[in-house]
Amino acid sequence: MSLYSRIIGTGGFLPESVLTNRDIEDIIDTSDEWIRGRTGIRKRHVVRDGESCSELAEFASRRALEAAGLEPAEIDLIVVATTTPDQIFPSTACLLQRRLDIRGCCAFDVQAVCAGFVYALGVADQFIRAGSARRALVVGAETMSRLLDWQDRATAVLFGDGAGAVVLEADRNPGIISSHLHADGSYVDLLQVPGGIGGDRNEDHYLEMKGNEVFKMSVTTLCRIVDETLKANGMQKSDIDWLVPHQANIRIIRATARKLDLPMDRVVVTVDEHANTSAASIPLAFDVAVRDGRIRRGETVLMEGFGAGFTWGSVLLEY
Ligand code: COA
Repeated sequence: MSLYSRIIGTGGFLPESVLTNRDIEDIIDTSDEWIRGRTGIRKRHVVRDGESCSELAEFASRRALEAAGLEPAEIDLIVVATTTPDQIFPSTACLLQRRLDIRGCCAFDVQAVCAGFVYALGVADQFIRAGSARRALVVGAETMSRLLDWQDRATAVLFGDGAGAVVLEADRNPGIISSHLHADGSYVDLLQVPGGIGGDRNEDHYLEMKGNEVFKMSVTTLCRIVDETLKANGMQKSDIDWLVPHQANIRIIRATARKLDLPMDRVVVTVDEHANTSAASIPLAFDVAVRDGRIRRGETVLMEGFGAGFTWGSVLLEY
C-alpha cells in the first residue's frame, strides 16, 4: 500500500514589530493608497536587531510541534525553506535543529525564494513516500526586510518577515496527493539579489526587481500550474475546496482564484496583514486558516507559489 505524508500540525510566528503603510510614508515617497491599490498590503511585520531567521523558525516550529502533539526528538527530517539564512553556513535547518535540541536527523535548507515552501514540502513528501523519514518538520522562514533597499519604493513596500511550519507524518491515507515543481533560470535578471560571496559586492546585497514583468509572468505561470495539477490528478476545478497561494500581491491571487472559478471566500488571504514573506507566506496563511477553523480535515487544498529564478510549483493535498 502507498505511503502518504499527512499534515498533523501547523504553526506560525511573526515578529512583534509592525510597519504600516503610513509608517513607510515617513521613509519614502509612497502612499497607503498606492500600496493598498496595487498590492493589497496594509502592513508587515519586521525583525528588530538581534532577531534572526532561525529564531522565527524555532517559534513557528514549536507551535507546529505542539499542535501535532509531538516532542522535537520525534522528528526525523528537517527541511527549511529560506532565502535569508542567518549565516552562509551552517544551514538554517541545522541552526534550527540545535535550537530544538534534535540530534542526528537529516536537516537541510531549500533555496527557491518565494516558491521555497512548496519546494520544501514536495521534497519532504518524497522522503516520506520513500520510507526514508516518518515525521518531518517543514518550515518556511524569512527576514526579507534585511534584503531591502529602504530607499527603493518599488520594492521596499512589498515584503515582510515571519515563519510558518508544518509537521508531516507518514500515513496510509492522503495526505499530500501530488507536488509539481519547476524552475527556469533564464529569468534571473527580473528578480534577484545580485551580491554573493564572489568578491566585494556588498553594495549589491539588495533585492532588485522588474515588477511589471514579474507580475505578468507570475499570473500566467500560476494559471498554468493550476491546469497541470488538476490534469495530473484527473480532477476538476470544483474538486478544490481551498486555495492557499503565495502571498505576493492580491491582484495575482485574484487572477489565480478566477482561473479556478473559486470565490474569494475559498482563498486564504494574508497579504494584507503580512505582505510578501517569501517562503514563509504559504505556511503562515495555511496556519491562520487551520487555526481559525476555515480549513477542515478532509478538505482539498491547493498551495501554489512563484518566485525568483524563476521557480514555481504547487502542492495538492487532502488536509
Ligand atoms: N509608491 C508610489 N508609487 C510607486 C511606488 C510606490 N511604492 N512604486 C512604484 N511607483 C510608481 C512608479 O514610479 C510608476 O510611476 P510612473 O508611472 O510615474 O513612472 C508607477 O508607480 C507604476 O509603476 P509600475 O512599476 O509600473 O507599477 P505596477 O502597476 O507594475 O505595480 C508592483 C508595481 C510592484 C506592485 C507590481 O508590478 C507587482 O506586484 N509585481 C509583482 C511583484 C511580486 O509579486 N514580486 C514577488 C514575486 S514572488
